[in-house]
Amino acid sequence: MIQKYVIGGSFATSKMCMARRLIKAGTNKNPTIFNNLRRLISGDTTSNNAGAEDYLDSLGYKDPKLQDGMKDALKSVFGKKITAAHLKSIGETGLEALSKSVEDQLMLQDENAFVGTVHVHIPHHNFNFDLQMREGENLMTCATEGNGKEVLGEYLECACGGNMSCSTCHIVLDEETYNKLGPPCEAEIDMLDLAFEPTDTSRLGCQIAMCEDIDGLIITIPAGVNNLWG
Ligand code: FES
Repeated sequence: MIQKYVIGGSFATSKMCMARRLIKAGTNKNPTIFNNLRRLISGDTTSNNAGAEDYLDSLGYKDPKLQDGMKDALKSVFGKKITAAHLKSIGETGLEALSKSVEDQLMLQDENAFVGTVHVHIPHHNFNFDLQMREGENLMTCATEGNGKEVLGEYLECACGGNMSCSTCHIVLDEETYNKLGPPCEAEIDMLDLAFEPTDTSRLGCQIAMCEDIDGLIITIPAGVNNLWG
């Protein structure tokens, strides 16, 4: 998962970091997109003046706050004026990852957001603990930069940054929560097939975000990990 895409205000991040994260966002296997990103890193910001909002609308990203967040996120790469050409150069996969990141960050900014509890079981270490997560926060962000960094972070490496490409965030959910969340998407299923000893209720932690419905969920950390990243 990509974090802190939004530039300016509370989401500042570097241009290089942005491009690196976009590359991680499922774009690294596409040579065209990869080359575009390399071009961006090198500072080539040629563009046309087509409307970014219209293009985002056409892809279904209609929420003005989301659009603003996505455009703000790209300003460190393209400069102040974000156009449809800039957005197209990232590709739909990159935009999808970006929109998800921005949505997560917008959710985390909401002071009234619900805060739920996660019960973490680590049977192979005979160790259990609880964590608090804000609505919209997922287990990867909790483990890498949230209040689970010190403990959960020891067990979930999240090597691919939430791109569903590593399986190092593999967790096993309690059955009730698994059923509430509905089935994982095809990309997640593919990665789970490669995870360490997957079970019927295995999920990728980077895809599990807190909401009231799953408050009190129990996650079990598997005894091993397969890192498919890199
Ligand atoms: S962080 Fe890599 S698959 Fe979840």
